Amino acid sequence: MADFKIFLCCLSLSLFSCILVLGSNDILCEQGFCRSYRFDVGCAEPPSHCSIMNATHRGLQLPSPTLCNCCDFCMPFIEEGGHCVSRSPGTGNTVGRCGDGLNCTTNDDYPSGWGSCSRMKSKCHDAQDDYDARALKEQTGALELRPHCDGKGKFAPYECIPAHTCFCQSEDGERLFGEVRNLGALTERNMRCGCSRFHDHMRKTISPGVPYPVIGPRCTADGNFHPIQCISNKCYCVDILTGIVEDKTKYIDLERTPITQLECYDEDADLYKEYSEGEPPYNFTTPCLKDLKAKIDLILRSEEEGYNVDFFNGFQECLPDGTFGRTGITRDGRKICIDERGAQIENYGVDRTSDDFETMDCKCAQTTNVMGDVPEKPICCKNGSFRKIQCRRGMCRCVDPDGRQIGLESTDVTLLDCYTPDWKTC
Ligand SMILES: *[C@@H]1O[C@H](CO)[C@@H](O)[C@H](O)[C@H]1NC(C)=O
Ligand SMILES: *[C@@H]1O[C@H](CO)[C@@H](O)[C@H](O)[C@H]1NC(C)=O
Ligand SMILES: *[C@@H]1O[C@H](CO)[C@@H](O)[C@H](O)[C@H]1NC(C)=O
Ligand SMILES: *[C@@H]1O[C@H](CO)[C@@H](O)[C@H](O)[C@H]1NC(C)=O
Repeated sequence: MADFKIFLCCLSLSLFSCILVLGSNDILCEQGFCRSYRFDVGCAEPPSHCSIMNATHRGLQLPSPTLCNCCDFCMPFIEEGGHCVSRSPGTGNTVGRCGDGLNCTTNDDYPSGWGSCSRMKSKCHDAQDDYDARALKEQTGALELRPHCDGKGKFAPYECIPAHTCFCQSEDGERLFGEVRNLGALTERNMRCGCSRFHDHMRKTISPGVPYPVIGPRCTADGNFHPIQCISNKCYCVDILTGIVEDKTKYIDLERTPITQLECYDEDADLYKEYSEGEPPYNFTTPCLKDLKAKIDLILRSEEEGYNVDFFNGFQECLPDGTFGRTGITRDGRKICIDERGAQIENYGVDRTSDDFETMDCKCAQTTNVMGDVPEKPICCKNGSFRKIQCRRGMCRCVDPDGRQIGLESTDVTLLDCYTPDWKTC
């Protein structure tokens, strides 16, 4: 922290005061200093943006660039259309920066380096604009939400379906692994999809360059990081939202100690307890990851020893939580919907001869399963997909394969765009 303060002093104050602080930082910034300092110099009133925080007045609270950070400091966010300097903040000559989702764009009307804050052009903003345009014409559905974008104009880490579930999505808005029951604010606090997005990123950037799947961090079913992460034999406890190791000195070595001895080990959360016990060397793995690792080891060995192995039917990839997937095959060849522990979800399933055998994805079955014991669940087809028309409280609506409402709802199903006479059988 002391270094940070010195840095800020150097940024903003004269060289003299910078040297003064560098020379005697610990003494100067001792407790009580700010009281006398304030008395001496006083603090300028910070912009009120940080304390108001309404639609037009927002800001970012920062340590102040004053001696010992005595004063409150607020960097105001400039509204859409407001003047800005196109160089980044922190160069010393900007007061504030463009608000979230805005970009400082220059044009010929402004002197060099100056511009105005304008809405970034992005897929997520386009989706919001589309929603807003339809909202003006009262063309948005009751269970349709305005897309949520982050400060850079990208899609937020997850999307929610009112009263159902929230699921992870990429910055481009494509659905990713990870789904939880929609509990409003509680969900927003605990769902960041950091692990899920990490896997997505890995799949797109690293995997195309290597001949076999890359094993990433272990995730939980909600798209967060699993609290236990292992790097070869050493296993650590991590923050489930960020994936950062909490205490690098606390770990166990699987050569000698079973994973059950790690502080953050939770027996109930361990999907494959039988893999975590036994004789040393111990393991912390899943059936899918174990298979995969054995195949990868074989390839690595073959490369070393100069022969070729080929897995003709490719690799069975594992989901980010280390499971084989959310569909399973029964002994008599049916494909069924399963949960993360491998248990069948209700009676969803199709025979090998069915047209849906290959495409079956169980999205609706998963959603109803994640929702648990609540009364108003979506209706699923036998193959575990969402029925294309869903009704709730006397209103029916068309939904997409992820269960999102499309178009307006109606009390009369025959008026819906997706209506067909056989809509009930599926
Ligand atoms: C935000 O607060 C400021 C100061 O109180 C006020 O002038 C402004 O109109 C408010 N904006 C909105 C959208 O309420
Ligand atoms: C923001 O503005 C800069 C320079 O004006 C431009 O290079 C960049 O592409 C813009 N970003 C977005 C997301 O619009
Ligand atoms: C851990 O995995 C290794 C390699 O697959 C195996 O030889 C060993 O028996 C496993 N240990 C336990 C306790 O299952
Ligand atoms: C599931 O069944 C329905 C109704 O037969 C069909 O429309 C849908 O395409 C199927 N879903 C998948 C993923 O195969």
